[in-house]
Amino acid sequence: MPLPERIRPMSTAEDAFIPVAALDDLEPNEPRHVVANGRHAVVARLDDGRIVAFDMVCPHAMGNLADGLIVRGQVICPMHHYRYDLGSGECAWPRGEGGRLARYAVEIRTGQVCVRIPKPAWW
Ligand code: FES
Repeated sequence: MPLPERIRPMSTAEDAFIPVAALDDLEPNEPRHVVANGRHAVVARLDDGRIVAFDMVCPHAMGNLADGLIVRGQVICPMHHYRYDLGSGECAWPRGEGGRLARYAVEIRTGQVCVRIPKPAWW
């Protein structure tokens, strides 16, 4: 039997969706740097209309993906031009190298892009 709303535990910051940008402010394929739960991330509207969120730090060698180029659903890192698929997080070039890009859940609530980004372990 579910607990009544009054005594149900509130969601923790780790699982909360945090508003980070107005949906209407996102231009297609323009990365937007955001900070939530002490982490730097990027949100973007893709060509097909999907809104995505991913870690700002490139898993290859810590390049800044907020300065990256987004093309056909992939982000290209400005440091060594590795490409990461924003649907899967996999490194699309060079395939099999570069690790996996962390992506975050996104919800649109009353015109706001909200992301769920876990706090860092040391937070
Ligand atoms: S740091 Fe991003 S490709 Fe090397």
